[in-house]
Amino acid sequence: MASTSRYLQDLFGLDGQTAVVIGGAGVLGGALCAGLAQAGAHVVVADVTEEGCRNRAAELEKLGGKATWTTVDVTSRASLEALLEDAKKPTGRCDILVNSAGVNNGTDFLDHTEEAWDRVMAINLKGVFVACQVFGRHMVDNGRGAIVNIGSVTSHLPLSRVFGYSASKAGVLNLTRNIAHDFGTTGVRVNCICPGFFPAEQNRKLLTQQRIDAIMNGTPMRRFGEPNELIGALLLLVSDAGRFITGTHVNVDGGFTCAWL
Ligand SMILES: NC(=O)c1ccc[n+]([C@@H]2O[C@H](COP(=O)([O-])OP(=O)(O)OC[C@H]3O[C@@H](n4cnc5c(N)ncnc54)[C@H](O)[C@@H]3O)[C@@H](O)[C@H]2O)c1
Repeated sequence: MASTSRYLQDLFGLDGQTAVVIGGAGVLGGALCAGLAQAGAHVVVADVTEEGCRNRAAELEKLGGKATWTTVDVTSRASLEALLEDAKKPTGRCDILVNSAGVNNGTDFLDHTEEAWDRVMAINLKGVFVACQVFGRHMVDNGRGAIVNIGSVTSHLPLSRVFGYSASKAGVLNLTRNIAHDFGTTGVRVNCICPGFFPAEQNRKLLTQQRIDAIMNGTPMRRFGEPNELIGALLLLVSDAGRFITGTHVNVDGGFTCAWL
């Protein structure tokens, strides 16, 4: 019998693989990068600012991981194509893509501007569509790959004051299923992680005490998530352990989506 560590390495290990994390400088993206690096992948940190990317890549190297970085703007197809070319440099391939870039905007529905709606949709939904197309084509050509898109509890449920965001995240889950269906026999799997509530830069302004109380009431585990609590779901979805899993999602939300009163 193989040793336990060998067995786990065979199932979840990512040695020799290249993983791109878009939004990798962010709070959740950072934990996702760390998980992939510690599982053995070469991680390409991709985000809008050079400083954010550079700092994250340095952190991963401190952990003993292999990391490089490239700036990207998901609202530009040319920028995503350049990211793919950079990501291919170490091994000629990109094996894993994580779409974690996202922005939020909190207002009452009647105050939600078209500009805010368009920006959220361009980054959260169209950005995922174009990234899946650019990286998906490369992965289909290689006959293998795993894509994980980051949805939200709002992929399933309405949430007050984040209308554009909720619509974008419902779209991300639906798009994930559709692409997985389309890629069926290609060797490329596409799944979604739907996080619950994790304190992060993008929702700090939205988290009034009243909203925190409502979130705690709706979360059976009665706490926020910690970013590294997303890593287990991610490794399942991108590794050999998940090789028959496609077109689905994992909620990592302390039970928020199962709660009713
Ligand atoms: N924090 C939460 O509670 C929570 C819950 C559910 C889902 N999410 C989702 O998780 C993902 C990560 O969020 P986070 O909490 O780490 O937020 P974050 O703000 O820390 O990270 C988001 C990252 O996206 C990057 N980004 C923004 N616009 C971009 C663009 N045009 N091109 C490339 N990158 C861009 C930002 O620079 C940032 O680093 C997002 O998709 C978010 O919607 C977060």
